[in-house]
Amino acid sequence: MADGHNPPLTLGIAGFGTVGSGLLRILRENRAEITARTGREVRVKSVLVRDLSKARACPPPDGARLTDNPDDLLKDPETDVFVELIGGIETAGELVGKALRAGKHVVTANKALLAERGNEIFALAAEKKLHLGYEASVCGGIPIIRTLREALAGDRLDSIVGILNGTSNFILSEMSDKGMDFAAALKEAQTRGYAEADPVLDIDGRDAAQKLYLLIRLAWGAEYPYAAIPVSGITGVSPADIRYAREFGCRVKLICYARLHGDDPRSGGIEAGVCPALVNERFLLARVEGAYNAVRVEGNAAGSVFLHGKGAGDLPTGSSVAADILDIAKNVPPCNTGFAGPHPTAPARVIGPRESFSPHYLRLNVADRPGVLRDVAAVLADHAISLAQVIQKDDAAETAPPPAGKAGPYTASLILMTHKASDDAVHKAVTALAALPFVRESPVRFRVLTGKSGELPRLRAGS
Ligand SMILES: NC(=O)c1ccc[n+]([C@@H]2O[C@H](COP(=O)([O-])OP(=O)(O)OC[C@H]3O[C@@H](n4cnc5c(N)ncnc54)[C@H](OP(=O)(O)O)[C@@H]3O)[C@@H](O)[C@H]2O)c1
Repeated sequence: MADGHNPPLTLGIAGFGTVGSGLLRILRENRAEITARTGREVRVKSVLVRDLSKARACPPPDGARLTDNPDDLLKDPETDVFVELIGGIETAGELVGKALRAGKHVVTANKALLAERGNEIFALAAEKKLHLGYEASVCGGIPIIRTLREALAGDRLDSIVGILNGTSNFILSEMSDKGMDFAAALKEAQTRGYAEADPVLDIDGRDAAQKLYLLIRLAWGAEYPYAAIPVSGITGVSPADIRYAREFGCRVKLICYARLHGDDPRSGGIEAGVCPALVNERFLLARVEGAYNAVRVEGNAAGSVFLHGKGAGDLPTGSSVAADILDIAKNVPPCNTGFAGPHPTAPARVIGPRESFSPHYLRLNVADRPGVLRDVAAVLADHAISLAQVIQKDDAAETAPPPAGKAGPYTASLILMTHKASDDAVHKAVTALAALPFVRESPVRFRVLTGKSGELPRLRAGS
């Protein structure tokens, strides 16, 4: 109910799928709380879909019109907010642009759109002095956008490290806990509805990179080109790596990281990436299980802040969309980027692979013969990489004949833990190692996430 003074806030919702249905349920079930918080009614006037004949998870709200004509939302003078929950880039981008040009606030859950067309959409929203809400676009129900934009606005942020893709985290958790291989764990994720029929964006790390890109803009107000983020996904993670990681007291996680170098993203730079990494079991991030997401933000005043929650799903994602709608209903002035002035600000200096340092885990499948370790160590030394630990496992028995140009038999796995080395040096060393006659497969290479002390994981007794 309106309080008699404030007119209702009128929504046009584009999309009645997973998130659209969740939002409609929240608006219906939490109606009294929402009105109490905003002092006005939030009402849905129209819901846009592609197929009017499709069965829906819930009925459209009382008095709302189901339509397949975007103009019913965009050209309706009563509609204050265009809520974009259809996904994809072309149509969604066109509708969001039209909505802003028509003077409507926009709320979206679409990270792909903002990663691809964010610059023009943020600029248009700023020019029109309208809200562009996107809390739901990163980590579903976790309020990470608000945390960076508002709660930690007084801090200079040093780093963001997180698990931003629930599908890949679910797959890695299944591989860890149940000993499944990648294909079986992916199938399980699809059966449980955690993975799309086409899961490629999730497992190749690009979905996580899109979210990281948005978080970097929010944290530092600088443009770090999406295409510059080095991304590797989880398809190369094997049960053997999960097992060996455990021997080092670690879990394998798809980690997103962004770190400020120096005091300023323009002069110092930002180091960022998405990759599988060994995470010490003592760290909270290692304990993020199943389809959950988590983000750890390090501020120079607040210290370490850790957020954990559901990264997807109808109600968690709908909750974030609803929070953005409530800001508009409360007449909070727009602060879409968290920074004053034009957006994006100057480009960040991109910290490249030569300046990006981490310890690394390497796994090589090698012929078990004298001199192998000596030659491997020599290649690493040539690239100024220092070894912290080496273990040999005689569990890579190979009965098939070796490929042309390669020595056999292949009976050993060499597991190497390096001290900090640049990504560039490790990449070059791995390329050189792959070319050695006794190294059969492309070596596996993961970063190792360390804490502030930089202490390396140690082999457990009895491993
Ligand atoms: N699902 C999640 O957990 C989640 C989490 C975070 C963010 N998101 C983001 O939220 C957005 C929506 O995701 P979702 O999972 O809710 O998608 P979804 O279940 O596939 O629903 C999409 C909805 O949009 C409608 N639609 C699609 N194309 C349209 C078009 N050209 N014109 C009119 N309507 C159209 C569809 O209509 P029909 O029903 O008639 O086909 C459907 O109702 C995406 O950007 C996604 O990345 C989703």
